[in-house]
Amino acid sequence: MSVFGHRLSAMRQWPDDRVAFGGDYNPEQWPREVWADDVRLMGEAGVSFVTLGVFSWSWLEPTKGEYEFGWLDDVMDLMHRHGIAVDLATATATPPPWLSAAYPEILPVDREGRTLWPGSRQAWCPSSPLYRDFALALTDRMATRYHDHPALAMWHVSNEYACHNLPCYCDTCAAAFRRWLERRYGDLDTLNEAWGTAFWSQRYTAWDDVLPPRLTTTFGNPTHVLDYSRFGSDTLLDFFLAEKEVIRRHSAAVPVTTNFMTMSQFRLLDYHDWAPHQDVVSTDHYVVDALEHPRAELSFHGDLTRGLAGGAPWMLMEHSTSAVNWQPVNPAKRPGDTLLDSLTHVARGADTLGFFQWRQSRSGSEKFHSALVPHAGEDSDRFREVCALGAVAGRLGELVGSRVEADVALLWDHEAQWAVAGPCMPSSALDYPTAAHTVHRLLRDRGVTCDVVHPDADLGGYRVVVVPTLYLVSDAAAAAVAAAAEAGAQVLVTYFSGISDPDDHVRLGGYPGAFRDLLGVRVEEFFPLRVGEQVALDDGGGGGGPGGSGGHGTVWSEDARTHGADVVHAYADGPLAGRPAVTRRTVGDGGAAWYLGTLPDDATLGRLLERVLGDAGVRPAAEVPAGVEVVRRRSAEGAWLFVLNHTDDDATLAVAGHDLVAGTDVGPTTTVAARTAAVIREA
Ligand code: GAL
Repeated sequence: MSVFGHRLSAMRQWPDDRVAFGGDYNPEQWPREVWADDVRLMGEAGVSFVTLGVFSWSWLEPTKGEYEFGWLDDVMDLMHRHGIAVDLATATATPPPWLSAAYPEILPVDREGRTLWPGSRQAWCPSSPLYRDFALALTDRMATRYHDHPALAMWHVSNEYACHNLPCYCDTCAAAFRRWLERRYGDLDTLNEAWGTAFWSQRYTAWDDVLPPRLTTTFGNPTHVLDYSRFGSDTLLDFFLAEKEVIRRHSAAVPVTTNFMTMSQFRLLDYHDWAPHQDVVSTDHYVVDALEHPRAELSFHGDLTRGLAGGAPWMLMEHSTSAVNWQPVNPAKRPGDTLLDSLTHVARGADTLGFFQWRQSRSGSEKFHSALVPHAGEDSDRFREVCALGAVAGRLGELVGSRVEADVALLWDHEAQWAVAGPCMPSSALDYPTAAHTVHRLLRDRGVTCDVVHPDADLGGYRVVVVPTLYLVSDAAAAAVAAAAEAGAQVLVTYFSGISDPDDHVRLGGYPGAFRDLLGVRVEEFFPLRVGEQVALDDGGGGGGPGGSGGHGTVWSEDARTHGADVVHAYADGPLAGRPAVTRRTVGDGGAAWYLGTLPDDATLGRLLERVLGDAGVRPAAEVPAGVEVVRRRSAEGAWLFVLNHTDDDATLAVAGHDLVAGTDVGPTTTVAARTAAVIREA
């Protein structure tokens, strides 16, 4: 079944007879004689698609209005002759030097008023009508020329919107921001009310007085800053839609996408707004070595991307075979990690495995970024690993189109993330993803998969709903969470949720305003913990903690009183000794609302989650040793269990079926070797 359903008909199909395998191909960086070698090696590696033209503008339009499409025609033909599908970029991600030289007003400006000059990439202002006109003209050329090329299987608009040019604070953006605000608020009284401008003499009496949140003496207005994030995301989405519209005029049937950056470190676009406009959701992901739990973040990212795709399969447009080149230190991946990382993405719903890039560059800023073909060439362990992975992708064709099973929803909201990152919060140690990542990781450790979804998503059908640090929340979303508990779900809310409304005005009467009644908890004052500070927890009377204690909390604590909730853990020391830290309230018919007023240590929180899962009747995808990740995908045709052994020991589990990685039948038990993976079609 095609991932894109009916959309692909007469045109070349996106390769769905296997997990599509390939990546960014930049042949303009190489002499033509290398191209023949490229297609030979692509054949060896099992490459079924390439993304072409992402940064090719200066090679397609080297001077204003003079086009050189011949080389791209030849590459498109070459791909077609070798049966490789093309995800064709509009080439608008980075302007050629002549464009910014002639029109320096297209350049972005930072918060301090400094121009960001050409010489790198993506040096264009998101609001620039001039840049947009040039970009749409090139898109039109591309769509006119290639809409019926037999290699074309997908359109790739721009590239990683906002990666380097958002926010821009230039005068063009200032004017566009005012127009955006007028549309949002209608009049200045409403804006003044929303922004709370009675504070610090900020009342506006003329639209022209409103500026972007440029460098200020001290803290800016949080709602002003929040609206600037909303404006930036909306502005680029509008640009994407304009490019898509141009493509559609020439090419009605070919799917259109742009590659998101759903890595949790990237916080600039509200992908929940963007996702409905993608014919297929695609994203990039790179393992960030400095994280404490890099592979747990990878899994989280996959679940978030699947949430954006509404549960449907998605495309991993880019990841890396080994090291990147943009971290302080860029370690190579250990043998086996490329397979494990790739299969983690597939486990979590990817039907395409793309890499940056096909052949490692000899020159330029990314010459030390790994690729499918490394500097060492085909006679290298890395290329042999790539070929082995390509062969595995080939064997996974039967699960393309299947969906990931999850009983748990975890709410994620870009607006709440922006707001938590705003100025003057109670603690700079409050990082929006911390609670979400921690709960997700501990569930993953227990073989339980989450759908990471927007607060407006339909929560019916989930047995557990996790609400981590949902600081800013609408009344409707808060009501939907309460309704889920009423309907029988176990709802787990963490600290610093429900505090403010969508204008970032605090909900009065005691925290956590929007969830106070649901949780049966009222908080009078926050007691954030210092970096590294811990507060002891009692065992809640259940003897649950290590050594008879209830472990400890970090990051946050608060002065809470219960009304109708049971205390699961109380603070055992510090200024809040004896006050509730973790609570539970029975709701409706079998539902419950749990509250974490602090972030318990892993062991304590893990035990609590086991209780929540037990009460909800949620079972792991399989019983496996610690450190082994398990996820199940299912379709009408069958079920596939992904077993990702991240440990240095072989792992044995009870399962029978056929392992598509090894190509062997297994059962009644199977052993998955250390640092490798199995994908078992279950009997
Ligand atoms: C992405 C980008 C690619 C390449 C890659 C390196 O952000 O889309 O062009 O730069 O990172 O990791």
